[in-house]
Amino acid sequence: MINPVKGTRDILPPESYLWNVVEEIAIKTFKSYGYLEIRTPAMEPVELFERSIGEDTDIVNKEMYVFEDKKGRKLALRPEGTAPVARAYLTNQLQNQSHPLRFFYLGPMFRYERPQKGRYRQFYQIGVEILGLENPEADAEIIELLFTFLKRLEFKDLSINLNSVGCSECRKEYVKILKEYFEKEREKLCKNCVTRLNKNPLRILDCKEISCEKIKDEAPTINNFLCEGCKNHFEKIINLISALLIPYELNYKLVRGLDYYTRTVFEVVSKELGSQNAICGGGRYNRLISDLGGPQVPGIGFAIGEDRLMEILPEKFINENSYKVDFFIIPVSEKETVFCFHLAEGIRKKGQNAILYLEGKGVKKGLAKANQIKAKNAIIVGEEEIKNGEVTIKDLNEGIQEKLQIQTFIEGLK
Ligand code: HAM
Repeated sequence: MINPVKGTRDILPPESYLWNVVEEIAIKTFKSYGYLEIRTPAMEPVELFERSIGEDTDIVNKEMYVFEDKKGRKLALRPEGTAPVARAYLTNQLQNQSHPLRFFYLGPMFRYERPQKGRYRQFYQIGVEILGLENPEADAEIIELLFTFLKRLEFKDLSINLNSVGCSECRKEYVKILKEYFEKEREKLCKNCVTRLNKNPLRILDCKEISCEKIKDEAPTINNFLCEGCKNHFEKIINLISALLIPYELNYKLVRGLDYYTRTVFEVVSKELGSQNAICGGGRYNRLISDLGGPQVPGIGFAIGEDRLMEILPEKFINENSYKVDFFIIPVSEKETVFCFHLAEGIRKKGQNAILYLEGKGVKKGLAKANQIKAKNAIIVGEEEIKNGEVTIKDLNEGIQEKLQIQTFIEGLK
């Protein structure tokens, strides 16, 4: 027996059907806002992530799948989708196109983390990015788009945790004060945070160790250090999303685990998920593209963890969107097979699904199968029906059976 790689899994029907429904709603929603798909490779040069996410982050330090190909090139399986979008912007010289550029992406990401509920080594993200706009209206659009999508999945009580991590200028002063504060508490910090203290003190605010949590509580917060520009930007976003009635909470300790963020950062968390509670993370990255050697092009976006999203889908949504067989078509004998193929096609053209009973074991076994797979209706097709241009439809929930002219039946389908 060959087992799957640790932290990976198979997503099987009927669950996979629900994944498809969620993805279709995502794609439809994003397209309706003018976001079109960007597909980037699953592997990239390691350097891309080192230079964007940051060398002193957990993702780059500990969690990347890094390997050499046969020619000795250092590659990484992508741990996230934003840096590849920025790379694609430069590769394809998108600066020559009319801005802003709106993208969405769906796909697997890879992080070598300790697997547990809601945390996998191959997981799936649904993300969007808008490039080329610096103003707070773009932040508001991204956040509003996120909420529209979540509302379409019937989520009612999610809210967004929001913060501004400032720009490289005002953050400098904050990081200095933060370092001084943590320096005083050095002995109480976990081993990782002692390293972070020297390399990237902001990351301490992201630590989930209980010992560090306490020290974090008392730490100075960034809101008191924001420059005028960053403060105004943040206030405008708050005004806009308040006016749009989007539920949010300010969380001045939210810094997120990636270094490319400037100004806005946000997360959507769910209590249902335990410690792996962020279903979505996002933020603004005004320097990402220029840090990769390109022009100064601002951007903002988010990525939803699809695996986690699926774990907390509202019951109402699941009930209304689970796969159901509309019609199970049973030929009485071999002679009706071709007719049944055509009938099924007629039904499918109307947007309903139809499954053929291919086993050829007769009506009784066919009906048993239809019941077993919980089909809504069974259609029995015999010589008699074909001769009269009719179908016999059995509603398997109500137990009612009726004969209809084929044309009347097909035309009556929604
Ligand atoms: P992130 O917060 O690292 O942000 O990941 C986004 C989401 O991916 C998380 O909120 C979580 O739901 C999911 N996720 C992360 N790691 C795992 C895992 N090991 N197993 C399951 N789910 C996971 C980013 O990746 C940024 N690129 C988001 C972004 C887009 N910022 C701007 N634009």
